[in-house]
Amino acid sequence: MAMSLSKRKRPHLEDKQVVQKSKTEEEVFDRPTFHALSKMIEKGTFDTLDYPICTGKEANVFRASTKNGFVAVKIYRTTAPVLKRMHKYMEGDNRFKDILHNKFEVMRAWARKEYKNLQVMHDAGCRVPAPILCDRNIVAMEFLGHEGVPYSTLKETGSLNPQRDFELILEDVAKLYAAEIVHADLSEFNILMDDRGPYLIDVGQAVLLSHPQAEDFLRHDVENLVKYFRHHGVKADLEECIKKVKGK
Ligand SMILES: Nc1ncnc2c1ncn2[C@@H]1O[C@H](COP(=O)(O)OP(=O)(O)O)[C@@H](O)[C@H]1O
Ligand SMILES: [Mg+2]
Repeated sequence: MAMSLSKRKRPHLEDKQVVQKSKTEEEVFDRPTFHALSKMIEKGTFDTLDYPICTGKEANVFRASTKNGFVAVKIYRTTAPVLKRMHKYMEGDNRFKDILHNKFEVMRAWARKEYKNLQVMHDAGCRVPAPILCDRNIVAMEFLGHEGVPYSTLKETGSLNPQRDFELILEDVAKLYAAEIVHADLSEFNILMDDRGPYLIDVGQAVLLSHPQAEDFLRHDVENLVKYFRHHGVKADLEECIKKVKGK
C-alpha cells in the first residue's frame, strides 16, 4: 500500500535527469571535484555516477552504482549564500575553529561534518544513511531507495501511518540527544519515507550540544515535527515532546 502511494507520486526518473543534468554539470564538476570522484572510483566506492537525484540549495545528490547495488553521492557547492549558512552552524563548534576564514576549507569541513555526524547518528542507532566515505566536498553514503529508485521525502509522499512515523522520528531525535547531537534542520523536507519507517537525512548542519544554539535548534526541530504531524491528525504537545526527547 505504502509502496504504491510513494511510487505514484514519484517523478519519473528520466524527467528528473533531463531537467537537472545541465545545471548540475556546470555547477558541481570543477576539476578538483572530478579528481576526487575519480579517486573514489579507483578505490571502488562506486563504479559509475548514474544521475542527479536532486539539485538542492547547497549540494547535489547523485545515485551511483557498484557491482553490489547503489550508493548516494552528495557533492557540496561553494557559492556565497551556501557558505554564509554554513558559518552559522560551525561558529562555536571547536572542531572547526581554525578554518572559518577559507571558503574551500569551510566547504570541505562541512562535508566532513556531515560524514562525522552520520557516523555518530548511525552508531547511536538512528535511522540515517550509513556513511561510506568523505573526500573534499563529497560524501558517499548508503543509498536509501527501493530497486534503484530513491525514497521520496515526507513532504512529497506523506505518511500512511502518521502516529507511528511521528513516534519513530521522535525516538530518533531522542537517540541523537542522548548522543549529544541535534539535527538542526529537521522537517518533512529532510525525512525520507520507507515502508518500514522514516529516515533522517541532510545532517551537515547538525550541531553538538555544546553549540550555543543547540537548545534553540532542538526546539525548532521538534516544533516542525509537531506542526507537520498535528496537521495530519496526531495529537502532540510541543513541551511534552521536548521533555520526551530529553529523557525527562
Ligand atoms: N542517502 C540518500 N539516498 C537516496 N536519496 C538521497 C539520499 N540523500 C539525499 N537524497 C536525495 O537528495 C535530496 C537532497 O538531499 P539533502 O541531503 O536533503 O540535500 P540538501 O542539502 O540539498 O537539502 C533528498 O531530498 C533526497 O531526494
Ligand atoms: Mg535537505
